[in-house]
Amino acid sequence: MKKYRVGIVGAGNIAQNAHLPAYMKREDVEITAIADINLPRAQAAAEKFGIPKAFASCEELLSGADTDYIDICVWNRYHSDVAIAAAKAGKAILCEKPMAIDLDHALAMEKAVKDAGVPFMMAVPTRYSSEAQYLAQMVESGRMGEIYYAKTANMRRRGTPLGWFTDLSKSGGGPVIDIGVHCIDRTWYLMGRPKPVRVSAMTASRIGDYQTKGVDRWIALDSDVTAFDTEDSASGVIHFENGATMLFEVSWAYNGPNTDYTQIAGEKAGATLNPLTIYGEDMGYLTDNKPTLLPNNIFEAEIDHFIHCLNTGDKPISPVEDGVTVQRMLEGIYTSARLGKEVTIG
Ligand SMILES: NC(=O)c1ccc[n+]([C@@H]2O[C@H](COP(=O)([O-])OP(=O)(O)OC[C@H]3O[C@@H](n4cnc5c(N)ncnc54)[C@H](O)[C@@H]3O)[C@@H](O)[C@H]2O)c1
Repeated sequence: MKKYRVGIVGAGNIAQNAHLPAYMKREDVEITAIADINLPRAQAAAEKFGIPKAFASCEELLSGADTDYIDICVWNRYHSDVAIAAAKAGKAILCEKPMAIDLDHALAMEKAVKDAGVPFMMAVPTRYSSEAQYLAQMVESGRMGEIYYAKTANMRRRGTPLGWFTDLSKSGGGPVIDIGVHCIDRTWYLMGRPKPVRVSAMTASRIGDYQTKGVDRWIALDSDVTAFDTEDSASGVIHFENGATMLFEVSWAYNGPNTDYTQIAGEKAGATLNPLTIYGEDMGYLTDNKPTLLPNNIFEAEIDHFIHCLNTGDKPISPVEDGVTVQRMLEGIYTSARLGKEVTIG
């Protein structure tokens, strides 16, 4: 069994609460180093998870530790810097969502990865749930027919993350780029990844900062950041080359119920998740099928898939090209909202 040496860049919430606990369960990885611009944070994480080396930057980690791959867990703004440095050093890359803060950064990452010929996978965990994987197989087998319509939402009544997420210079955007990326990515993947061609969208910043009590929020480790210059909700429609459309709505804060779903409609069957229900027809009757699946930890599943791809050379389910295409859709959403009209997606 090959043991992979991993360098983690970014010692914050997602690294400590999702990636590191998943790595700790594996015998085929060894975390050789962790880096954070907040060095005491990297050192504390190293102490907590038994990691031998802690550094204050990605560059120091790349030159000071032996690694096979770099796991990028930093603010969105620096995904591209870290990915490009890692690719130039010949390292494989697992990159947290969103790929980057904008399309230019995403394209520069793709170029660096392809020039260096290193494996790259987007960490988009909602693709890796057992329900999503079952449905993806159904779509791929042709049993749903062509998917021509889809709808997705991740609407939080009050769920704005605290910290850098609301600071445009670090995040690149609000719920579109933070949680829209999850539901749009998953839905597009389940539609069979058609080519996006046009988008019409609106964004709103109407609720902004709030002091509502008794609500649950994701808290970045630097939660004292006070900038709030992103949108707080968005909605729109994305059109695809094959004639399919996807409606989406996303919100960190709005006055309505919490919703989080993906719905796809094909010529032969349709489906919603989560939970997964498949809407079909059998022996002349309508059927609602709820497959019995074991629930899985989506972070463990995505890391498992990445290691599988390193071992086999298989292309990941969420490759660099998908990261770029999703970034094109996100960029199209912001451009359409800014111009107040439908725009083409190049
Ligand atoms: N997959 C998911 O469900 C999910 C959930 C939350 C966050 N995320 C993603 O994870 C990433 C980190 O989010 P978080 O909630 O852990 O934030 P966080 O603020 O808790 O942690 C980020 C860490 O990165 C460090 N950092 C920033 N720039 C750096 C750089 N250039 N080099 C080294 N360290 C740097 C910060 O000091 C901080 O400690 C973001 O891209 C976010 O979108 C994904």
